[in-house]
Amino acid sequence: MITYRAMIALDIPVVASLEKEIFKDDPWSMGQFKEEVSNNGITRHYLVACDAQHQIVGWAGALCAADGANTDILTIAVVPELRMRGIARHMLTSLIDWAYTKNSPQIFLEVEKNNQPAQALYISEGFEIISQRPDYYGAGIDALVMSKVLT
Ligand SMILES: CC(C)(COP(=O)(O)OP(=O)(O)OC[C@H]1O[C@@H](n2cnc3c(N)ncnc32)[C@H](O)[C@@H]1OP(=O)(O)O)[C@@H](O)C(=O)NCCC(=O)NCCS
Repeated sequence: MITYRAMIALDIPVVASLEKEIFKDDPWSMGQFKEEVSNNGITRHYLVACDAQHQIVGWAGALCAADGANTDILTIAVVPELRMRGIARHMLTSLIDWAYTKNSPQIFLEVEKNNQPAQALYISEGFEIISQRPDYYGAGIDALVMSKVLT
């Protein structure tokens, strides 16, 4: 059984270690996660997914700077062994629900152009491609900007 809860500072070493395996080219550091999590429940909404042994198997986070501002999804990841079971969809739904509580008119994210699994997830949750950012993730690695209008 998978459970979901807010990410706390104690989770950061585990999340940062998994991050290095999943986002090999440009992982977030412990310091970056600390900065994010220190604002959790205020301008950030970060959650973790845990397995039956309470081990972290996924995480996701979003930023909304102020009530009525747009929300940005900053990260979402699930360990390879537990993908395709709806864990990311559950976390994405939580981020979208939070954006509604912040009265965000729109929610945005960037995704690598070649990342088909993530794009399929976002499209299935109502996101649309609105623009492209060449070389966003490095030379020759373009990003797609996707957004969902929250009305
Ligand atoms: C993208 C990612 C978070 C998806 O996590 P997940 O838990 O496997 O996703 P879910 O099981 O919730 O899938 C939800 C939907 O996404 C789509 N999807 C997910 N993985 C897919 C795949 N490999 N191929 C095609 N569609 C896929 C499907 O539409 C799926 O819905 P369905 O199962 O009803 O068909 C995961 O693959 C991951 O961690 N990837 C590496 C990190 C990453 O790329 N993060 C996104 C950065 S923008």
